[in-house]
Amino acid sequence: MRVYLQSVGCKLNQSEIETLARGFVRAGHWLVQACEEADLCVVNTCTVTQVADKKSRQLIRRLRRVNPTACLIVTGCYAEMSPQEVRAIGEVDLIVGNEDKERLVELAESLGRESCGSKAPIPGFHALALGHTRAFVKIQDGCNNRCAYCIVSLARGRERSRPRQNILAEVRALVAAGCKEVVLSGVHIGGYGRDLGTELGQLVEDILTETMVPRLRLSSIEPWDLERSLFRLWENPRLCRHLHLPLQSGCDATLQRMGRRYTTSQYARLVAVARRLIPDLAVTTDIIVGFPSTGPFDSAQGELGTGPGETPDEFAVSLSFVEKMEFARIHVFKYSARPGTAAAEMPHQVPYAEKKRRSEAMLELAQESSQRFCRRFSGRRMEVLWETPHRDDKQAWSGLTDNYIRVMTRSELSLANTIASTKLEGLVKGGMYGEVS
Ligand code: 5AD
Repeated sequence: MRVYLQSVGCKLNQSEIETLARGFVRAGHWLVQACEEADLCVVNTCTVTQVADKKSRQLIRRLRRVNPTACLIVTGCYAEMSPQEVRAIGEVDLIVGNEDKERLVELAESLGRESCGSKAPIPGFHALALGHTRAFVKIQDGCNNRCAYCIVSLARGRERSRPRQNILAEVRALVAAGCKEVVLSGVHIGGYGRDLGTELGQLVEDILTETMVPRLRLSSIEPWDLERSLFRLWENPRLCRHLHLPLQSGCDATLQRMGRRYTTSQYARLVAVARRLIPDLAVTTDIIVGFPSTGPFDSAQGELGTGPGETPDEFAVSLSFVEKMEFARIHVFKYSARPGTAAAEMPHQVPYAEKKRRSEAMLELAQESSQRFCRRFSGRRMEVLWETPHRDDKQAWSGLTDNYIRVMTRSELSLANTIASTKLEGLVKGGMYGEVS
């Protein structure tokens, strides 16, 4: 079959799509880059917010519209939590829950024999058809934390770690295929190995010593999991100087309601230590605006936490803490009530218009903050891993430094999938301009 794969949402979803891609290729199928050429389309959906639900639905509808005859399989967290909504979209051939995802190739094949017409393969299409320079490798699934806002721990269940040897074998295979950067992904990577009697630090060390991967990056890691003993790992320059430490709020009362296990001052201390031990480190984060509350007096923090939902004061405190942290990048989320989570039951929800206003203020700060980070590197020479050229302009290239600065350049020669020393010259939209030399 000719197979078109797409995911919505997190890096873990992306890593699962990459694994599926390899599974389909191994089973003798072909990957295609345009869904109209496919016999089978697979969507890995996301349900982290209502926006993610909507994006998942839109993608399903678009694939169906563009290719009315292909088989359509929908999997992932939205399919897991709201299968009836997926069914209601109509003309989805199969819904695969998260637990059955690993058998998806097999399920697709049995479905395909009955209902997918097999078009002739296009020669030359293989796993690289996905066109990603960085590979996301899943090291664990599930999360035992219960943050009050989060539906992902419900959609993905308890923590399970992948055995070390499987991960090492996957990284080695990726390196052999030319991959230059591996991003370790999961729902709760800091919990890696607890069920196997090992831990994340050991895994990172093993990957660095037992594989030749040029760059290794950690995806999101909870602040309480970043033990001081881990920092020595960054003595190895192949480990990217980038920590994504989801803060969620810069106000202690809000953090408490969210069920987060740190205060802002603990967080600030952790970041200070990290920055001291890892020079030029990029610290990036996630922030939720407009978190609800259970009642007017659910926190004993003076003026804070006394209002309905995140109060204007709490938001102001959050904003000013976030400003002080000088993040290199901030993902801003408007709080979205997810069914089955504790926060969705909190009676005091913040009105949408107010969440939107706060999100805009936070986004403005995010932009200033990342520009300030980038400016520090103006005139510096950095290694950039260049990706694929721009779709409409084959001489326009974009890539990332190990500390997560997006760099743009122009080159007639192909830079695809090369790591090149690049002089960063100045700010441009979305990052910095650089000259390869
Ligand atoms: N509403 C808004 N944002 C959310 N996130 C998780 N759950 C919600 C929710 N219910 C955000 C968090 C998390 C990121 C992946 O998604 O900031 O770190």
